[in-house]
Amino acid sequence: MKKIAVFASGTGSNFQAMIDAIEAGELSARIVLLVCDQANAQSIARAAHHGIETYCFDPRKFSSKAMYEQEILTRLQDESIDLVVLAGYMRLIGKTLLDVYMGKIVNIHPSLLPSFPGKNAIGQALAAGVKVTGVTVHYVDEGMDTGTIISQEAVPVDVDDTHLSLQAKIQVVEHRLYVETIRNILQLIENVHQ
Ligand code: GRF
Repeated sequence: MKKIAVFASGTGSNFQAMIDAIEAGELSARIVLLVCDQANAQSIARAAHHGIETYCFDPRKFSSKAMYEQEILTRLQDESIDLVVLAGYMRLIGKTLLDVYMGKIVNIHPSLLPSFPGKNAIGQALAAGVKVTGVTVHYVDEGMDTGTIISQEAVPVDVDDTHLSLQAKIQVVEHRLYVETIRNILQLIENVHQ
């Protein structure tokens, strides 16, 4: 069974969708570690509730990104993590992790990249007046939401959509698309190793 580490700074609804899919037998994998940079994140409570170990760190207590990423890397290697899944992790991944895990770190973003990268993608889409936005799952590189796109799905923007209503529609798609995409990636990793 492939081992996943999830990095989540916030609510963790995508993290929960993965847990639910695994518990329902729809995703064959084990989430063995949550990495979190916010002591009060809801994702930590979700991990505890499902018996998933958490590594919570305070970036301000490290002198550099390389220092805290080295700590994370040690945890990932100790657990022999096969895939790192970013789910609302609000930090760019640096060289220390990428040098070892490039091609094995994925992220989900609430827009059709390359449109609306960075923060508040939903607000950006509403401000631009687009009629279609969506969800992207991509491999992670040094950039902000710039890595190779793996999967995308469109979400229509209705005239009466608010930030909240559009976010709700996007999250429904996110939870399904992320699980489907992770399933496909794990299958690819499996095939490579056979
Ligand atoms: C999601 O919208 C995801 O696309 C973005 O951050 C948000 C995380 O939401 N990267 P949640 O914490 O999984 O609810």
